[in-house]
Amino acid sequence: MTPDELHTQVCAKPELIAATVAFRDGTPVVLRPLAAGDVQMLGDYFLSLTAETRRRYGPHPFDRKTAEQICSSVDLTDTLRMLAIIHGDGGERVIAYFILILGIRDDDALRYAQLGIPLDARTDCTLAPSVADEYQSKGLGSLVMRHLLDVARKLGRKRMVLWGGTQATNDRAIHFYHKHGFHTVGQFEEPPGFNNYDMILSL
Ligand SMILES: CC(C)(COP(=O)(O)OP(=O)(O)OC[C@H]1O[C@@H](n2cnc3c(N)ncnc32)[C@H](O)[C@@H]1OP(=O)(O)O)[C@@H](O)C(=O)NCCC(=O)NCCS
Repeated sequence: MTPDELHTQVCAKPELIAATVAFRDGTPVVLRPLAAGDVQMLGDYFLSLTAETRRRYGPHPFDRKTAEQICSSVDLTDTLRMLAIIHGDGGERVIAYFILILGIRDDDALRYAQLGIPLDARTDCTLAPSVADEYQSKGLGSLVMRHLLDVARKLGRKRMVLWGGTQATNDRAIHFYHKHGFHTVGQFEEPPGFNNYDMILSL
């Protein structure tokens, strides 16, 4: 099956890229693409994020209205939103949310072009990862990342870049990206006075 054929199948049957992984203590974590019915869980996740995580992670607002907008327009043609879900006493709960755009955003493309690294929206992809505060630094991000890298490769993606780069002061994220094979290729100020790194991974 070609990557394009797989992508067509995934759009019709998102569960094809679902998986169950486990924390070091054996607790299972379900990884699966966001579905329209996840609106309550996604909103709960957004509202749970602390100011510190929101300061580091800014692809969109984190409120119920945004969760509703996202869940009412699920379309895996362009964007996969991978959730990590645990089952607790209160039912299912989202504990990580990774956005993978199957393509390149305009402002990221522009910065990379200025670095002399032309990106290709047909074969490159863009990542924006987040983990619930109380689960950060416990290996969950790496569990999701390994799965998403595998998915991106199977869908024929050749390189992955970070949505809007990463803040130069975000030591954990920088360590995390290096651990998964990303290289720093440039830096830029956004907003003025705040340094960010552009990092890229060959898949
Ligand atoms: C960045 C993020 C997605 C990583 O997910 P995670 O579940 O915390 O990642 P992991 O636990 O798998 O790995 C974190 C690594 O950083 C290390 N780390 C933790 N704090 C660190 C710090 N202050 N400096 C350097 N490394 C640090 C951990 O030891 C671990 O490395 P190791 O596996 O080599 O021991 C998550 O922390 C997060 O959502 N952060 C807030 C939002 C954010 O910054 N998003 C990225 C925006 S670009």
